[in-house]
Amino acid sequence: MKFFSVPPSKNQILKTLSEITSTIYLENVGRSYGSADAQTTALKGVNLTIQEGESLAIVGPSGSGKSTLLHLVGALDAPSEGKVIVAGRDLSQLNDREASKYRREETGFVFQLFNLIPTLSALDNVALPARLAGQSMNESNDRALRLLERVGLADRKDSPPDSLSGGQQQRVAIARALINDPKIILADEPTGALDSQAGQQVLDLLLDLVEEKNVTLLLATHSEDAVKRMNRVIRIEDGEVISSAKR
Ligand SMILES: Nc1ncnc2c1ncn2[C@@H]1O[C@H](COP(=O)(O)OP(=O)(O)OP(=O)(O)O)[C@@H](O)[C@H]1O
Ligand SMILES: [Mg+2]
Repeated sequence: MKFFSVPPSKNQILKTLSEITSTIYLENVGRSYGSADAQTTALKGVNLTIQEGESLAIVGPSGSGKSTLLHLVGALDAPSEGKVIVAGRDLSQLNDREASKYRREETGFVFQLFNLIPTLSALDNVALPARLAGQSMNESNDRALRLLERVGLADRKDSPPDSLSGGQQQRVAIARALINDPKIILADEPTGALDSQAGQQVLDLLLDLVEEKNVTLLLATHSEDAVKRMNRVIRIEDGEVISSAKR
């Protein structure tokens, strides 16, 4: 709880309420790279409140800062300015152990190019984050198998990723992102490498999860099909959020 030495203004009260009640709250977030004389600004002055169960499309030209935003919310990167607050916690205040627990157990990251481990079977890829979180082999495998069933790939549990189609690999990657029951799914152009039918299946799956488990979905995309299905869309240009619209 915050205490104020002088009576808080209405704006301060609203800000504090947003920090506490929203799932994801970004306050004046900036991220720059490089030295002062040769600086790239990936994000600047981003203020954003995202509620539990929202599905948010992040759109904008290449290089506008979409991936940077997802990385900050996923604690894969830290802001140069401002705060990223998730479920009331400022991510920059987490120590290394807390940050990796946050990444592993509270978020699920889905990448454009799937990022599965080529030497592991589909089942082992899905089960790995659960084993890393300390679950037994049996428990992790049971959960992984149930998730592969959920994404329609139980019969391919022993297959290595390179024997699966792109759409199938992405479904395995989604199952992996879900194994520790995250409250937030961060998807960086998850349909970018897929044809439109496989892309629709991946979107169906992600949106079913939003509905069933009330997860919060942040999805960076260049696809109009994907945008149409999310309940809010924000547009980023040159690192700034220039619009936010509910659908
Ligand atoms: N590690 C880095 N070092 C230097 N600059 C970087 C780094 N990562 C990103 N950038 C720069 O930050 C800006 C935003 O990049 P970002 O990857 O967030 O864009 P994006 O919107 O995801 O683009 P795309 O649609 O192509 O994936 C770009 O100008 C990029 O070159
Ligand atoms: Mg990107």
